[in-house]
Amino acid sequence: MNARETVIKIVGVPQHTPTNEAITTFAPVNIALIKYWGKRDDQLNLPVTNSLSIALPTKGTTTTIRINHTTHDTYWLNGESVDKNSEFFNRLHYFCDLFRFHPSYHFDIDTKNNIPTAAGLASSASGFAALTLAFNQLFRLTLEKSELSILARLGSGSACRSLWDGCVEWEKGQREDGLDSFAHPYEAATSFLDSIGVGLLIFAKEKKKMSSRDAMLTTVKTSPLYSQWSKHVEQDLTDIKRAMSQHDFIRFGEIAEKNALAMHNTMLTSEPSINYCNASTLHYREKIWALRKTKCPIYFTQDAGPNIKLLFQKESLSVVKEEFPSAEIIFLSR
Ligand code: DP6
Repeated sequence: MNARETVIKIVGVPQHTPTNEAITTFAPVNIALIKYWGKRDDQLNLPVTNSLSIALPTKGTTTTIRINHTTHDTYWLNGESVDKNSEFFNRLHYFCDLFRFHPSYHFDIDTKNNIPTAAGLASSASGFAALTLAFNQLFRLTLEKSELSILARLGSGSACRSLWDGCVEWEKGQREDGLDSFAHPYEAATSFLDSIGVGLLIFAKEKKKMSSRDAMLTTVKTSPLYSQWSKHVEQDLTDIKRAMSQHDFIRFGEIAEKNALAMHNTMLTSEPSINYCNASTLHYREKIWALRKTKCPIYFTQDAGPNIKLLFQKESLSVVKEEFPSAEIIFLSR
């Protein structure tokens, strides 16, 4: 089954013909604690492993969509028209084609992120999740969250986790058509996460060198460490869930950090080597390790970009503010 067939299977034939009303939706950014890195199907974004994330309640993408009566779509990102030659344009266009239930349907899409786009801060996840919600409303599809999660995955794998607040697990599924590969809330973590803060250390705002899509493909094909990845993830998932249920922040931080480092080490050993870190990344990693010895438990995670996300407990807030004055701090409880 390809992506278009997946949409038809889930949506069927929409009964509602959209007028030119504008629909606006929001989806939060999610940060993976246990990472998705590697696909078993590149077209459907089916992952090799489960993954687990936390949503940042105030950060994400707001998308407005309406049908236009011209012959082409228009895409705006943060107030600027999206460059027709960019990878982002192609990905948006591909995704919109999946929802072009009639050839005359063209869309005006205005999308705004309140985080730097494509700097490894998962804006594509919140972007495709918000767009999926927008199509659901535009065509009055009234789909289940699990179905929306499958559709969002077709835009970007991690987007399937951006439909909920709190902690979310994405099940890798077994089926070739991917209909069992969607995310769901992991409620057992809720009370633990209420005491956790995330510090966004954004020192690189430029677009990343290599998309996660290409980087994953290269890692799976060439890294000698990739054969170990599934085993690591399974263990890390079990351990982090136990740590959260026991309210054991230190263990929680250790596992999240170790999982991020294992992902980066796995891609570093690809051919060609994939390195998302810069000098500031290494500086901040060292600083966090030093602070841990002298002041309080602070850990980090890092996605496909140089920026670092601090993980800490509420009681460490004053240290975080003092040591990382530029960090944007977000608590996970609303
Ligand atoms: C490092 O979801 O952006 O953030 O499915 O190719 O669009 P595609 O990849 P994407 O990859 C995210 C990778 C990650 C880890 C994670 O979010 O789990």
